[in-house]
Amino acid sequence: MNAAIYPGSFDPMTLGHLDIIKRASKMFDELTVSVLDNKAKNALFSVEERVSILKEATKNLSNVTIDSFNGLLIEYARQKDVHISVRGLRAITDFEYELQTAQTNRMLSGGDLDTVFLTTSLEYAYLSSSSVKEIAAFHGDISQCVPDFVAELVYEKMKKISK
Ligand code: PNS
Repeated sequence: MNAAIYPGSFDPMTLGHLDIIKRASKMFDELTVSVLDNKAKNALFSVEERVSILKEATKNLSNVTIDSFNGLLIEYARQKDVHISVRGLRAITDFEYELQTAQTNRMLSGGDLDTVFLTTSLEYAYLSSSSVKEIAAFHGDISQCVPDFVAELVYEKMKKISK
């Protein structure tokens, strides 16, 4: 079985993430998209909310499973007996961090966890969860950045936290 994990914060999932998920789901028999439960990061959406968004967005992709994890990715991958991590690369600015993380994971796992990079489709190269949140916080238009149902959830959340 050719399986992979796509880990990330997904706060929230963008069209760029969804593009990587769709493309990776064609490359692997099973793809687990897993949300990092990072208490240190001040997230807009809870892990449960992020999982639920990803589930809704991928409901038609039969080989995609949504999950969450905390702690080291290599430990999580070991538990699931998965040896490939998928990450999207938008630009050279992502490269340094991603290269370092991939090499660290390979070293920590004793060569057991490799990272496969997919270059982000050009139309999503500018997208990030952080910019989505910033645009929404200033009441800007995020309709080209996230699926419509996610945009609604982001605006709702922004309304709640600004009260
Ligand atoms: O969407 P993000 O925030 O860029 O995703 C980063 C993520 C979740 C892939 C990365 O931070 C991660 O795997 N964290 C888990 C902790 C870990 O394994 N760290 C060791 C790598 S240096």
